Amino acid sequence: MEKKKARFETEVIHAGYSNDEHQGSLVPPLYQTSTFTFANAEQGERRFAGKEEGFIYSRLGNPTVKILENKMAVLEKGEAALAFSSGMAAVSAVLMALTKTGDHILCSQGVYGCTFGLMELLKDKYGIGHNFSLMDSKETLENDILPNTACIYIETPINPTMKLVDLEMAARIASERGIPVVVDNTFCSPYLQTPIELGCDIVIHSATKYICGHGDVIAGLVIGKKEFIETVSRTTQKDIGGIISPFDAWLLLRGIKTLPVRMDRHSANAAHLFEFLRSHEKVDSIYFPGDPEHLDYEIMKKQMKQPGGLISFTIKGTKETAQKFINHLQLIKIAVSLGDAETLIQHPATMTHAVVPEEERRKMGIENTLLRLSVGLEAWEDIREDLEQAFDKI
Ligand SMILES: Cc1ncc(COP(=O)(O)O)c(C=O)c1O
Repeated sequence: MEKKKARFETEVIHAGYSNDEHQGSLVPPLYQTSTFTFANAEQGERRFAGKEEGFIYSRLGNPTVKILENKMAVLEKGEAALAFSSGMAAVSAVLMALTKTGDHILCSQGVYGCTFGLMELLKDKYGIGHNFSLMDSKETLENDILPNTACIYIETPINPTMKLVDLEMAARIASERGIPVVVDNTFCSPYLQTPIELGCDIVIHSATKYICGHGDVIAGLVIGKKEFIETVSRTTQKDIGGIISPFDAWLLLRGIKTLPVRMDRHSANAAHLFEFLRSHEKVDSIYFPGDPEHLDYEIMKKQMKQPGGLISFTIKGTKETAQKFINHLQLIKIAVSLGDAETLIQHPATMTHAVVPEEERRKMGIENTLLRLSVGLEAWEDIREDLEQAFDKI
């Protein structure tokens, strides 16, 4: 009998794991081992030759990690997944698997600072070029694709300006040309957005963020077609080696069970704080996908379940005003990263996007007065009161 398809809230707890295969253990066991023993030399030979299934060495696969990968493939509606030691290990393994010298990457106008740094490195050392595209219409995207474009790389919402890209449109245009679309889905998690269902090919996560949810792991994930995932597993993951530790995979398996509950609360808290910030006299501009006046509000409604837990805003004044403001916060912590239980605030121009040259930063919309708030799970009234008292001091 075919297994009944469960809802997301159920899959996030049960998918990818079978208690029967692990002595009935309710929770996935932690296989904290570097290597696996073979019954005999012939078995070792068969496993290395791919003629027998089974684990060999934890850089090539590990049972705890496999449970996480199977679960993520289900949640992101992909065929297979791979876990990495960081979001950047995932981004670099994917980009290096998709490109070769002479190729071109078309990137959304705004990406995480280290993704920008990686693209610069690929250009300078390996001759793989890139351009940034607004991707705000069919015409813009079509015009920006070059004959040697090997992949389209999209963050949506874009970090930290919260602009959105219409993923269905991008996937349609790319597939007509046989170009894979890679989406960094870190800001949404599969609970809010599933790019593969919209026609995109590969999803990347900094699992450090909402997937983990507890601020205690650095990790990355890649989800896509089985064939692509197998290629990455055999090449840029195995040979560069940015694999996740079994313990970190175990922590992610623990954290992810509450993803829908956490995302609902992050989003609800953010919606309250948006209402407070949008009308504050010391706030200049505000960027939140749930803002009906947001340029991409219609895209948000089309492809995201909720606007999410991140709000960016500019403060009236200078870079120093913004710094002074965050220095006065008490409950809210000054820290990069996002998606944790704790509310975090950071100054992208001098922190996450400091590596991006000023001119490029301005094109991405990252002003010196811009702050990014990752709304946590505390009572929203307490977060508001903390913001209020800090505003009063500038
Ligand atoms: C959107 C996005 N992608 C990728 C990364 C990189 O992830 P990691 O820090 O896990 O390497 C980050 C980190 O902040 C991010 O915000």
